[in-house]
Amino acid sequence: MPIPTRTFAEQANRQASRASASNKGGVLDRLKEVLVPRRLLVPRRAREGDAKIAVQRVGHRFGNEVVALDNVSIDVHPGEFVCLLGPSGCGKSTLLYALAGHISPSGGRITIDGQQVSGPSPERMLVFQEPALFPWLSVTQNLTFPLRARGLSRAEAAARAREFVRLVQLEGFEGALPHELSGGMRMRVSLARALAMDPQVLLMDEPFGALDAQTRDQMHRLLQRIWTRDQKTVVFVTHNVREALVLGDRVVVMASRPGRVIHDLEVRLPRPRDPDDEALVHLSRRIREEIGSAEGRGRTAPPAPPSDEERDVAESAPAAGSLPDRAPDPLGARL
Ligand SMILES: Nc1ncnc2c1ncn2[C@@H]1O[C@H](COP(=O)(O)OP(=O)(O)OP(=O)(O)O)[C@@H](O)[C@H]1O
Ligand SMILES: [Mg+2]
Repeated sequence: MPIPTRTFAEQANRQASRASASNKGGVLDRLKEVLVPRRLLVPRRAREGDAKIAVQRVGHRFGNEVVALDNVSIDVHPGEFVCLLGPSGCGKSTLLYALAGHISPSGGRITIDGQQVSGPSPERMLVFQEPALFPWLSVTQNLTFPLRARGLSRAEAAARAREFVRLVQLEGFEGALPHELSGGMRMRVSLARALAMDPQVLLMDEPFGALDAQTRDQMHRLLQRIWTRDQKTVVFVTHNVREALVLGDRVVVMASRPGRVIHDLEVRLPRPRDPDDEALVHLSRRIREEIGSAEGRGRTAPPAPPSDEERDVAESAPAAGSLPDRAPDPLGARL
């Protein structure tokens, strides 16, 4: 009888459960582990109801013939937090900018609430790694300026700015100019400015990529708190696996050459999530190995050594051309 091959999600769940069992000392916890099988990472299942964002067979080829996206299909339901994860150059930003309406994909269709995306809209706010604040305006003014431009009265804009400055814990810095703030504080202003506009969809392109690890952890806690409160639909680009697992309801794993989706996974770790949680660290290592293998390392090279916990996908990917490319891994096929 053939030995059944364990799927990627099953292996990841087993490892994570083992990690939890061995590290949570309580007898009750161990009993729970035995009695209640935990599936912390599962292939994404179809959901009922209309998708908020529907990406259907989207392809994009830049003028230089780079196939940035190839046949990408995903849907995102209202209030979901979806992380797009993958190595440098796999098309994460291209897909995000297509969702924002800044890029018109060369093939396929993107709809939001059933309407085809044909350009940018204030309902879809983009947050970049570079906070892009007006350097000559104070924290409050950076928030009120776009609100006034949208037609809010001076008093309404000021009240809203106060609310969101409080939300990102920047009270006392309302009058500060951007250069008087730390990188983390500037990012909080940028986040507050985007949220104050009350967009339906928040699109974030590696927003915390330039921050140190401690500040990034703080931003993760803040974003988890805000998301739990407001339940915005979020698409968050990262190449940091642990970041994706800390934040995402779903992790859509992409690979490059051509840019494509290789896995669409539901993350069922309880919130708020701790980046140092053993189960999360194990799942993260497993996903990293999977991406490394999809990028062409898996078949002939020995298994990757345990990675540094802060290492991200880009660093774990092999040098281009070091191994032959594997055939494209269709969505979910190995799960
Ligand atoms: N304006 C452009 N003109 C030509 N090629 C482009 C352009 N923008 C991106 N590309 C190419 O498309 C591919 C996908 O790029 P994209 O920026 O979407 O990747 P990414 O996954 O966001 O990478 P990173 O993690 O480094 O930000 C890359 O090969 C890149 O060189
Ligand atoms: Mg990018």
